[in-house]
Amino acid sequence: MNNLKDKVCIVTGSTSGIGLVTAKELAKMGATTILVARDKNRGKAALAEVIEYSKNEHTDLLFCDFSSRSSIISFTDLFKKKYNRLDILVNNAGMISNKRIETDSGIEMTFAVNHLGYFMTTNLLLDLLKDTPASRIVVVASDLHFRGNIDIDNLMHKEDYDGFRAYSDSKLANVLFTYKLADILKDYDTTINAVHPGVIKTKFGVEDRTSNQTFPMGRISPDDGAKTLIYLSTSLDVKGVSGKYFNQINMERSAEMSYDKGLIDEFWRKSIEYSAMI
Ligand SMILES: NC(=O)c1ccc[n+]([C@@H]2O[C@H](COP(=O)([O-])OP(=O)(O)OC[C@H]3O[C@@H](n4cnc5c(N)ncnc54)[C@H](OP(=O)(O)O)[C@@H]3O)[C@@H](O)[C@H]2O)c1
Repeated sequence: MNNLKDKVCIVTGSTSGIGLVTAKELAKMGATTILVARDKNRGKAALAEVIEYSKNEHTDLLFCDFSSRSSIISFTDLFKKKYNRLDILVNNAGMISNKRIETDSGIEMTFAVNHLGYFMTTNLLLDLLKDTPASRIVVVASDLHFRGNIDIDNLMHKEDYDGFRAYSDSKLANVLFTYKLADILKDYDTTINAVHPGVIKTKFGVEDRTSNQTFPMGRISPDDGAKTLIYLSTSLDVKGVSGKYFNQINMERSAEMSYDKGLIDEFWRKSIEYSAMI
């Protein structure tokens, strides 16, 4: 699918890293591409870069802080007012923090942004996705989900917070979410898949924005890292494929815990509860 001329796409976390590259490439393929940012200046800079690279004027910038319920609702409401279809939703915005931080509503930040952000955004846009033929949802997870160990009664990690663990749990949450939603969507023409994009040199994990340091483990460039997201968003190879986990472009088995149907259902119920609180 190299011509996305009539398609409408959203890429969250599109101010930097693999989200920015994905937005650039989808726009270059002709899609109406909506960038999502929480910061006005970073958003405007990203939009200018996407237009410059793609020469596509059908681009847009919407604002959302995925740690806030009201912000997610405003963003999705505005999107639905402006657009009447959604072909590709790339849930990509994410963070990791050494320190335990809470949202204004008291939810642990990694869980809020990395999981509830995807969960709420997708569910609020689900009717539009279902109404758009062959629409696709891409969930940017990580192979660190293999280190995740979700304890339904300790999702907030109030007493035992560890940034790496919270991150790994949030990425396992992405996979559980993908499998449950794929099941819900089984009679629809909308697919959803989770992906590990590789270990990439982005600003991910660098809390000091003034530093030029890159994520210490990063090995591949954002251009290469984004290839997986673009593949899952557009390739005919994965047309109709849903409810799968991809390690870059290879379909693989995810962590054993992610196939626990009882956990998947219970976690979905908890996510609804937390979405009301975020
Ligand atoms: N880098 C890796 O090796 C790696 C490996 C596996 C998976 N991933 C996943 O890939 C995704 C993208 O990461 P990246 O490596 O490209 O990192 P990145 O360059 O740090 O990009 C993260 C993006 O998320 C946005 N974001 C963070 N918190 C947000 C919030 N509360 N509201 C709105 N936007 C928010 C950031 O916006 P700002 O510009 O405002 O900060 C930025 O656009 C993440 O989901 C990450 O878990 C990365």
